[in-house]
Formats: sequence, structure tokens, C-alpha cells
Amino acid sequence: MHIAFFNPQGNFDPADSYWTQHPDFGGQLVYVKELALAMAAQGHRVDIVTRRIIDPNWREFSAPIDRYPDSDAVRIIRVPCGGDTFLPKEKLWAHLAEWVGNIVAFYAQEDALPEFVTTHYGDGGLAGVLFRGKTGVRFSFTGHSLGAQKMDKLHAGAENLAALDARYHFTERIFAERLAMNHASMIVTSTMQEKREQYAHRAYRGAVDPLGADEDRFVVIPPGVNRRVFSPEPGELDAAIGERLTAAIVRDIPPARRRLPLVLLSSRLDPKKNHIGVVQAFAESASLRAVANLAIVVRGVDDPLQQRAQLPPAERAILDEIVRVLDENDLWGAVTSFPLNNQHELAAAYRRAAARKSVFALTAHYEPFGLAPLEAMSCGLPAVVTRNGGPSESMIELSTRKKYGILVNPADPADIARGLMAALSPLSAWETLRAAGIERVTSRYTWERTAAGYIDAISAARHRVLQHGTLAIPPWFSDPRPENSIPLSELAHLYGTNTGN
Ligand code: F6P
Repeated sequence: MHIAFFNPQGNFDPADSYWTQHPDFGGQLVYVKELALAMAAQGHRVDIVTRRIIDPNWREFSAPIDRYPDSDAVRIIRVPCGGDTFLPKEKLWAHLAEWVGNIVAFYAQEDALPEFVTTHYGDGGLAGVLFRGKTGVRFSFTGHSLGAQKMDKLHAGAENLAALDARYHFTERIFAERLAMNHASMIVTSTMQEKREQYAHRAYRGAVDPLGADEDRFVVIPPGVNRRVFSPEPGELDAAIGERLTAAIVRDIPPARRRLPLVLLSSRLDPKKNHIGVVQAFAESASLRAVANLAIVVRGVDDPLQQRAQLPPAERAILDEIVRVLDENDLWGAVTSFPLNNQHELAAAYRRAAARKSVFALTAHYEPFGLAPLEAMSCGLPAVVTRNGGPSESMIELSTRKKYGILVNPADPADIARGLMAALSPLSAWETLRAAGIERVTSRYTWERTAAGYIDAISAARHRVLQHGTLAIPPWFSDPRPENSIPLSELAHLYGTNTGN
């Protein structure tokens, strides 16, 4: 099959430039690239269609066509719109109609349309709607992150709606998502919860009904772990990262405790990741302190707990609170911190930690999918993870009740301590969990499996009798008006800020 991916935001190049360094170059790009390569490995021709940028500050994205070294069957096709300079995703909306017109022209000149399009995020989804309108080619929608949940997180309400909309362009985003959900031949979610909870948000009422009329259009396909990086097999960096880890332990931990396993926290410093929950578990549980040390990974500084003044204020605030709990509970000597600067270093640290019979911990208040614990498990490091969100589906097999990781209540330090203890000791429990974790990833969370899931679902969606696509495209999407001229009342009505819903 010939499949196009529509992903206007960010960009793609063989060097994966700017990944994790810019908000538009995050997990979604990893998803699109890995899925495209895995589909190509299964015999399909894939085009990743993104935006052409001719900008001295973003030199990597000026060629109209690019390829990855490991696959001839994947093309990166860069199509212009909205001028030459880089635009963040919030500024793309007004240019998507032009982008789609140029995509149609590109394929016309090749005299071959793709047979199906996968679209990503609301901007890709809107492009899918417009492309289908011009060509009849069907598309899937993968939301990645939905605007309504972001509005919820930002506590959108009547008093701040205008300011939030001016910054994040929620009017365009919510309308685009509604259109994409309504016109897509299939909607892909990573978990059952994403389908049931996120798509059932009141902002999407009238566009999609995930629990009723539109249930058949949904397909749950989890993403995969990049096992080229996250593998239990030793890698080139293991020795160097092992030395970095040992040096931090020698610096921070007294000799009698230096051989203990670690509880490794490697999420970025963000309040929602709830690092403090694990620190409080150490404060409350003498049993936990007796069997493990805590290790906190922070990007960018050599001795994060001591050099926290060098970090951005939001990250510093989280470490300040951790230090306060360490001081109050006299936990120094059971805690270390060190930097890891990319995924290869992270994987090496997971393997070195596994060699010490350690565990990975992620006690976020809510984790939509939870790829990080699966990456740790793929390296042989057992995971202790929040029970809220995607991990409740990945860490336990519903049909057999088999456990692949330990779920904990992130709001309860005693339960976090219980979960950590259950993974750490006795050693036989740790070994069982390690083997189960590797098995879970290799049997369930691989990009090969994700690609096969997409291909099966696309084959079904291409032949399904269409009973959707009833929402009209607002005129300002096909003929965009100047920014900020779209009435805010339309967003307020959909989101419910003027009704108190
Ligand atoms: O790739 C980054 C990503 O995962 C994308 O899905 C999206 O661009 C972003 O994070 C989250 O977007 P937002 O904050 O706009 O919801």
C-alpha cells in the first residue's frame, strides 16, 4: 500500500534534529518516524508529509524531499505553506488550506495519489479533512494530545478564555479536532481510556460519539518501544554511564550504602510527574530506606541537587521542594542525582541500574500512555508506576490478571513504598518482574506490532461504508481570515464556558 502521513508541525530529517529541544519536536515525531519505518519494513511505501522551511535558523528542512538512511521506502516530503520561515504549531492553522492545495499539486505531478492518509494532531487532522474533500482519499486521525484536555489542564474559563485562545489558538484547534474526528474513517488511540475519556469530552459532542454511534471507527493501537535503543543487551555507552553513576554514588552516598539497589526517577522535572511522592515514600518507610537509595536524573547539570540554582525556575522549584523533604527527614546519604542527556545515555543507565537489581519509578498523578516505564522494562529494569492512566492497561493483562509491573497510588506515599518494596525484594520477585517486563515489551509494545495494527485497521477502514463526515468546514479554514478574527463565542459555546457545564 502507498500511505501518506500528514504531520505539518515540527519537521523530520535523517539526523532527528531538534528532538526534545523544541516543544514541536517531541514524542509525536518519534511516533510518526518509527511507525513509518516499521510500515515500510512490512512492504509498504510511506510518505511523511511535512512543511518545507527555508530559514537560516532551521537549515535542515529546506530540501523538498529527504530520506532516512535505513529505508528507501520512506520519503520525507516537504511541502511549502505560509512563507519560508519556521512557524510554531500554534501559527500553522491559517496556512493549512494552502498546504493541502500544494500536497494535491505534488501528487498530481507524480500522477499517483496515496491510497490512505494517516493524520497526526489536530493540524494534521484538519489537513486530512481538506485533502479528502479534494481527492476522496480516506484518512485516520491520531490525536496525540487533544486541545480540550489541554484547556482543562490550563483551567480554561470565561475569565481567561480570550488570553488562552490568543496564545494557544484553541478555537482553531478544537474546530480542527472536531472536523478530523467527524470525517476520519478511523480514529487511533493508544489506550482504551484515551478513547473512553478524552474523546467523550463535552467539547467534542456532536462531532464524535466514542461510546455509541462511532465506536466502530475507533481502534486502540499502543505505540512501541524503540528497541534499537532500549534493549537489555549491553551498549557502547554502558561503561561511561556506569562510571558517571558510580561517581555520583561515591559523591553522595556513604560507603555502607553504596551497593544498595537504586530507585531511579528519570522523568523530566514537571509537577505532574510527582517526584515528591517517591521522596515522601522514602521519608515514611524505614524498610524502603534499608534496601535502596534514591537516584534522581536531571538533564544538564552535574550535581543537580546541589547546583539547582543553575536550572530554570520551574525545575528548580521542584528540586527545592525535594531538598526540603530531604532536610526535614534527614534523608541525605540515601539520595543521589546525576545528569543523562539523551535516550542512549538513558538506556545505558537503565541497564547499569538493572545490574544493581534496581527499579524504575514513575508516580505521575496521571500518565496518558506511559512509554517511559516500558522503555525501562525493555532494558531489564522493573517498573513501579502510577495506577492512573495508561499504565493500568500496560502493566496488567486484563484477561489473565498477569502483572508486568507494579501499580501504585501516586497520592499515597505508603502505597508507593509498598510497591517499591514489592519490586525490590525478595530478589526472586525482582527477577520475575524483570523477565515479565522484557516479555511484555517484546510481545506487545513494538513498532512492528503498531504498524501491523495500523495496516489491518486501514485495510478495514478503506472498505467500510461511510456514515460520517457530516460537520461542515467553517469558511475560515478554507479561506482563512486574519488571525484573531474568529469569534471566541464559538469556542466558549463548544467548551461550555458560557453555560457553566
Ligand atoms: O511531539 C510533541 C507532542 O507530543 C505533540 O503531540 C504535541 O505537539 C505536543 O507534544 C503536545 O501538544 P499540546 O501541548 O499542544 O497539547
